[in-house]
Amino acid sequence: MEELKTRIKEVGTVLPGNVLKVDAFLNHQIDAGLMQRIGQAFAARFADAGITKVWTVESSGIAPAVMTGLALGVPVIFARKHKSLTLNEGRYTAEVYSYTKQVANKITIAQKYVAPDDKVLIIDDFLANGQAVSGLLAIAKQAGVTVAGAGIVIEKTFQPGRSALEKQGIPVVSLAKIKSLANGQVEFAEED
Ligand code: G4P
Ligand code: NA
Ligand code: NA
Repeated sequence: MEELKTRIKEVGTVLPGNVLKVDAFLNHQIDAGLMQRIGQAFAARFADAGITKVWTVESSGIAPAVMTGLALGVPVIFARKHKSLTLNEGRYTAEVYSYTKQVANKITIAQKYVAPDDKVLIIDDFLANGQAVSGLLAIAKQAGVTVAGAGIVIEKTFQPGRSALEKQGIPVVSLAKIKSLANGQVEFAEED
């Protein structure tokens, strides 16, 4: 997506540890217009997949997920992060390990918002190690629902997320693919 890549070039900064900071439009301040066009792009890519729900994980996945749900005309669920093991009655849960923050979180989705015939599109802001999406896949498996694919705003192709998801049979669509953040420079890969 050209507009997204242009914005990354203009306002993205590279932090130590191969982290791209895009607080200007995605992770803190949100450019709602850009998010809407991102949602429309995901909706177009999954238009024929029969999606009934969009799933993401709080917090940074919510903005692009909501815009995707709006474009597809389906509800959006954000899995909640819980540090506690308790109070999980009536909820599906999975463990997500964050390599960047070095903490493990439980993510949960209430069973009452999941229907057995759901066809889920997973949306997230970044794909790095694939832990967040894998957690949602574990929940989908528990719930017995189908996952049609994963839509990612920014994929870091030098990290193992995509191969982890494709091994589980999940098609991945990324709107910007970054192959390197070495030397503080953003280098894009070819798009899907
Ligand atoms: P994974 O979800 O692909 O496994 O990523 P990983 O465990 O490596 O990353 C943990 C958190 O860091 C995730 O956010 C992920 O979206 C984010 N992240 C990974 N790489 C980058 C990056 O280059 N730039 C930025 N800005 N974020 C990155 P989270 O813990 O779920 O937090 P939240 O922001 O959604 O609340
Ligand atoms: Na994030
Ligand atoms: Na995220």
